Amino acid sequence: MSGQNQLAFPGVPVESNVEWVWTEDPLEEPVVPTFVHTTVMAAEVLEALSPRVGGLYLDATLGGGGHTKAILDAAPGVRVVALDRDRVALHAARERLESYGDRVLFVKSPFGRVREALAEHGITRVDGLCADLGVSSPQLDEAQRGMSFRREGPIDMRMDQESGETALGLIERLSDDELADMIFKYGEERRSRRIARSIKRALADRELLSTLDLRRAIVRAVGPARVGGVDPATRTFQALRIAVNQELDELEALLASLPHVLLPGGVAALLSFHSLEDRLVKRAFQSGPFSPLFKKPRVATEEECAANARSRSAKLRAAHHQATRSGASYETSEGEAPGAEAEKDAPEEPS
Ligand SMILES: C[S@@+](CC[C@H](N)C(=O)[O-])C[C@H]1O[C@@H](n2cnc3c(N)ncnc32)[C@H](O)[C@@H]1O
Repeated sequence: MSGQNQLAFPGVPVESNVEWVWTEDPLEEPVVPTFVHTTVMAAEVLEALSPRVGGLYLDATLGGGGHTKAILDAAPGVRVVALDRDRVALHAARERLESYGDRVLFVKSPFGRVREALAEHGITRVDGLCADLGVSSPQLDEAQRGMSFRREGPIDMRMDQESGETALGLIERLSDDELADMIFKYGEERRSRRIARSIKRALADRELLSTLDLRRAIVRAVGPARVGGVDPATRTFQALRIAVNQELDELEALLASLPHVLLPGGVAALLSFHSLEDRLVKRAFQSGPFSPLFKKPRVATEEECAANARSRSAKLRAAHHQATRSGASYETSEGEAPGAEAEKDAPEEPS
């Protein structure tokens, strides 16, 4: 589908509010010693999107820039709006993708606000969109982020270190029962009550100062045994991270935005890494104006799984935004498309 009605960012006037992340405050540029994230299922994501010459795409989760780079290389003149809520990731990817010049627009925003983020840059719709959910390897590995139970760091866990409540703040704010419910819901952890009580006890005893203290409180509740090769703290850390970053709310907001930001015929390709995410994506693609590209989610090849452990839990779902006759679907950055007015009262075609 053509994106001709869109305001493409290379054409955005210089005095517009396009804000390139690295110019926000040059004195406070984050130090990025290394930022290595191995891209998951790049070939499959590309196959789903099949970028067209001169098309405009959105990478909702820029991270190390792997998918963005693959999209840029896929066809001449392709442009990408690259979103991330993590300033360090944006900074590192900007360096990596410098040679693409103004073919990439870097935007710091949670993807749940994708419509607003695009609108701020005069863009309404894109030809395709990808999202590689969850956290990047550097986010997990850097002790100061507090996402890993293997490294001593603050109990933080925020992807966007410039805003929002930390995991410690969340633990302090929630009651024992609320904390247990959250650990059960987002970690699918059966022993959530015991764990929540132990964490709150450690907090009251002023023994909850670091991620290793947090792991100790969990082990105190359930013992050190690894179940199925998995550390006893895995599920609780996952739950806290999902809650702190409101990952499922963000995903729901992104899914709800798809009909508004994708051109008719545009493709959304989403990579999820646990069942809570995949369930939401699956449900969204089964309804509304979407037509899944494949029935079952695609998974990484054996070779990729052998080379990159993270890819083993990846599930790729992709869907076309079906062209409907509703005015909303044909809305463009200029307003409604020609003919949309006349079609307003027409019944929607079955999707
Ligand atoms: C798995 S990494 C993406 C890796 C990237 N596809 C690559 O190949 O290098 C996920 C990235 O998405 C970002 N992210 C996760 N949830 C987000 C959200 N709701 N809004 C914006 N960015 C988000 C994280 O900060 C992280 O940098």
